[in-house]
Amino acid sequence: MADEAVESDIACLDHYDYFFRPNLLSGKVAFITGGGSGIGFTITEVLMRHQCSAVIVGRKFERLKKAAKKLEDLTGQKCLPVKVDVRKVNEVEAAVDMALKQFSRIDILVNGAAGNFLCPASQLSYNGLKTVFDIDAFGTFNVSKAVYNKYFKNNGGGNIINITATLHYSGHPLQCHAGSAKAAIEGMMRHLAVEWGPDGVRVNCVSPGAVKDTEGFRRLGGKRVPSNYVQNVPLQRLGTRRDVADATLFLASGASAFITSNTLIVDGGSWMTNPVS
Ligand code: HXC
Repeated sequence: MADEAVESDIACLDHYDYFFRPNLLSGKVAFITGGGSGIGFTITEVLMRHQCSAVIVGRKFERLKKAAKKLEDLTGQKCLPVKVDVRKVNEVEAAVDMALKQFSRIDILVNGAAGNFLCPASQLSYNGLKTVFDIDAFGTFNVSKAVYNKYFKNNGGGNIINITATLHYSGHPLQCHAGSAKAAIEGMMRHLAVEWGPDGVRVNCVSPGAVKDTEGFRRLGGKRVPSNYVQNVPLQRLGTRRDVADATLFLASGASAFITSNTLIVDGGSWMTNPVS
């Protein structure tokens, strides 16, 4: 398993000026896969800054514990770390049970867990392709299904937000596996939004472009993104983890109460103008 974690992966924001009222999510509980680092960590931070409790799940328990402690100290809200590989249904179900035991509710599910690497399609092994689909697409399904069956279905619904990518909007070399898996998630969103909408479940995606200060950008973007990349972004900069977190907050809040089966692209317009993102 690639592990290129650095301290900045669990760095809190230097400051946070509120666009929404600070108690926006008071009393709510979020279950966030991949919440222990990078974009998932900042999503967790921003939700907790709005008085949400959180459950963060991932494969690296020591890092999750450290992240949870940091976020609890920063926000004064509860954050429960649980070791889960989203590919393993029994671990996912046990984590959802733990979350419900601890907090008695789940209001928001953020599917942020992802795996990726650069590889030409011609060299990609069956297991390489399967691994990325297993983490991204099947993982999203596994967790969504568990949270729906164990809580949303019989408790008035909830809110699912999947973190995808812009890779599949235009097609990119070396990313057939990840782009296809993210496209599957966006397709799945529509099916689940239709099936579960009558139960009060909203399902949306946030689709980030290149986001600085992330493992994805260090490990994948840096090698692919050309030097004139920013010049070609209509909004003239790279994305930040906060950009993605604020979009997630919007979709997690009542401000988006009539929005389901939508993808909110958070890339400064880059997918339209840049050959890679
Ligand atoms: C080719 C590779 C490979 C590579 C792994 N594989 N790395 N193939 N090039 N660089 C193949 C292996 O050879 C193996 O197939 C199969 O994938 C499984 O590899 P494992 O190492 O056994 O899997 P695992 O330990 O589960 O690790 C999963 C992983 C890994 C996805 C491969 O990279 C990982 O855990 N990454 C950490 C999370 C991560 O990537 N975060 C960034 C997400 S960024 P064979 O055939 O040999 O058995 C993101 C944003 C997208 O998603 C936007 C990007 C710009």
